[in-house]
Amino acid sequence: MDITVIGTGYVGLVTGACIAEMGNTVYCVDTDPTKIENLKKGILPIYEPELDTLVTENHAADRLHFTTALKDSIEHSNVFFIAVGTPPGEDGSADLQYVVEVARQIGSLITRPSVVINKSTVPVGTADLVQATISEQLKQRGLDLSFDVVSNPEFLKEGSAVNDFMHPDRIIVGTESENARQVMTELYAPFIRNRPRMMFMGVRDAEMTKYAANAMLATKISFMNEIAGLCERLDVDIEHVRLGIGSDQRIGYHFIYAGCGYGGSCFPKDVKALISIAHQNDYEPKLLQAVEDRNAVQKQSLYNKLMTHFDGELSGKTFAVWGLAFKPGTDDMREAPSVVLINSLINAGAHVKAYDPIAAESARREFPEQWFNEQKLTIVEGQYEAAIDADALVLVTEWKPFRRPDFKALKKLLNHPLIVDGRNQYDPVQIKREGFTYYGIGRMP
Ligand code: UGA
Repeated sequence: MDITVIGTGYVGLVTGACIAEMGNTVYCVDTDPTKIENLKKGILPIYEPELDTLVTENHAADRLHFTTALKDSIEHSNVFFIAVGTPPGEDGSADLQYVVEVARQIGSLITRPSVVINKSTVPVGTADLVQATISEQLKQRGLDLSFDVVSNPEFLKEGSAVNDFMHPDRIIVGTESENARQVMTELYAPFIRNRPRMMFMGVRDAEMTKYAANAMLATKISFMNEIAGLCERLDVDIEHVRLGIGSDQRIGYHFIYAGCGYGGSCFPKDVKALISIAHQNDYEPKLLQAVEDRNAVQKQSLYNKLMTHFDGELSGKTFAVWGLAFKPGTDDMREAPSVVLINSLINAGAHVKAYDPIAAESARREFPEQWFNEQKLTIVEGQYEAAIDADALVLVTEWKPFRRPDFKALKKLLNHPLIVDGRNQYDPVQIKREGFTYYGIGRMP
């Protein structure tokens, strides 16, 4: 098959590269010429395990092409994936301008019956909008072409996106068209050879499935974070509670880790968008709003613990921060708890020495240059270097090398033997035996 993928962000690039790997010819289109030139040279805009090899090899094999012009792919392909961004607008609702613009371009260029597949996360009803936009363009051109608009949301996790695409739990396809159903079945067949995992449903059902999946996962996290706050006040260890409740198969162990809040480009954006969709439909989203509110509070929790410990006096102190990315395995710092913590610390007059295995570059873009120049914020090259003369160590992202550190070395390096563990990685009993003061999330100090 010859496929066009529009948008070379994390979803589009993974989709394009994985589909090309199965022998298809894929045209990846993006309006950003620098991005396209870099991709041709094998320079990727994001860090994602395995993706660089997939991109380079398939590009070299002439199966994966990069272009800034949609018209370059039109004569080859009549299957289009829309994978452009849907950033939150001022009121939290998804901004659909890029999706609509792509639909307009498709409508102005196609010359054959086509299938247009929406992979971007979009509110219910967007497929209808894409359909209407393409129809309008065709009408203006005096063309009577048949085309189908399909909703095919992605469920990729950053850090394991290639693996998730290659071995999907399920493939949701929203369509009422028999032709589109066949195209989608053929396209995904190589990824689900051993187990049938396609689920067909209405277009609107598929659009809602995506939001509901992310909102459910975010809800589990905020729920655990709320219980963790209660545990702290009742001399209960949330980690024991987690193991206790996870053993109930109806609850399960996934996504019930209390921590310093969820981040990334998906959960915060999608929960906000769903709240906004509810408001637009005169429906009060009580639970979703609470999920969002709890997460905002949670991101402040590490700072609050430091404030309490140091009796509100953080000015002039230095803090070691381990982990900047919103989760391990990525350099993505969008909505990361580390950003909230570092902003609060520096605004309180403290200094920060931060280390992350791969997000150093993202961090340099994230914070004001002045902070680096004035050495309020330093990004260091090693995890132990961050701890030198720091008044506490704060673990924000649970990268593997942080899980079993050399506590004796740390104790020598730190000014105060104090660890604030935002991901409950350490055993409080052991840490105390090592001579540290320890604060976790939902654990007694
Ligand atoms: C999420 C979903 O998991 C994917 O299925 C979905 O496709 C994707 O959003 C998307 O919509 O594109 P992702 O944002 O990459 O994927 O990250 P997750 O692994 O889900 O983690 C999200 C956040 O939740 C992280 O900040 C993580 O630290 C936090 N988290 C996760 C917890 O605090 N506790 C947990 O138990 C699990």
